Amino acid sequence: MENHLAILALFLGVCMSQLGGSPAQQYWTPANATFYGGGDASGTMGGSCGYGNLYDAGYGTNSTALSATLYGDGKSCGACYVITCDAYHTQSCKPGTSITVTATNFCPPNWSQPSDNGGWCNPPRQHFDMSQPAWETIAVYQAGFVPIKYARTACPRRNGGIRFSITGHDYFDLVLISNVGGSGAVSAASVKGSNTDWMPMSRNWGSNWQSNGYLTGQSLSFRVQTDDGRSVTAYNVAPAYWKFGDTYTSSVNFY
Ligand SMILES: *[C@@H]1O[C@H](CO)[C@@H](O)[C@H](O)[C@H]1NC(C)=O
Ligand SMILES: *[C@@H]1O[C@H](CO)[C@@H](O)[C@H](O)[C@H]1NC(C)=O
Ligand SMILES: *[C@@H]1O[C@H](CO)[C@@H](O)[C@H](O)[C@H]1NC(C)=O
Repeated sequence: MENHLAILALFLGVCMSQLGGSPAQQYWTPANATFYGGGDASGTMGGSCGYGNLYDAGYGTNSTALSATLYGDGKSCGACYVITCDAYHTQSCKPGTSITVTATNFCPPNWSQPSDNGGWCNPPRQHFDMSQPAWETIAVYQAGFVPIKYARTACPRRNGGIRFSITGHDYFDLVLISNVGGSGAVSAASVKGSNTDWMPMSRNWGSNWQSNGYLTGQSLSFRVQTDDGRSVTAYNVAPAYWKFGDTYTSSVNFY
């Protein structure tokens, strides 16, 4: 008996370590969902993760805002979730459908509304405020609110490499890291100028990582780690003549 349990535990461990067991997701977590941003998802652009235009960032309209419990002060920015409407608990599902969305925004608490009547994103609720097009693939528009089930999943294969958008000024470089594949959620980042060692960066807000090193006039390499422990290095992705305000696309990504 104990042996069987040990083998079962090992088996479960192997399954769970594989992000993206779609289509037969075995580890669904219950939550609820609403939608926002309009039928063309225009209102989802420029969310709290800092991706700006979600088409430019590679995410398109398959996006979601997360309640504080799921958002984790930006730790979940870029993470991908497969979501299915919970037909056992509502008649408003589109049967047999699911959608994979990327976390691009924060759904703020509203303590002037009760958590079970409008304050959907109040902690500790697990809530997805999905883009309207993403929502409409799994549930009927009129419902407005449905119970769902979700699981973390591998992000859809991104078009091209990880992108680094640099803003700020000398001694304060703010680097937006976007279009990250694999787990999608960046957990650590570091930068190396052609005249410096590797220097860890810190999360400033959303998916913006900060360095206080002096990097001007040097070619830049970035190392990005995701929350599944994998990392990639983008060598010399920005040339020595890089400029604040520009985006540099690497040739590497997680797949
Ligand atoms: C979903 O919302 C309903 C209604 O507020 C609530 O009873 C239920 O606990 C919520 N589910 C989760 C997983 O939070
Ligand atoms: C969004 O999801 C739909 C349904 O899964 C898919 O057909 C579409 O290609 C996705 N769009 C992008 C930009 O990933
Ligand atoms: C919070 O809810 C109240 C009551 O419905 C509403 O008037 C207010 O606009 C909401 N605040 C935000 C930030 O959405």
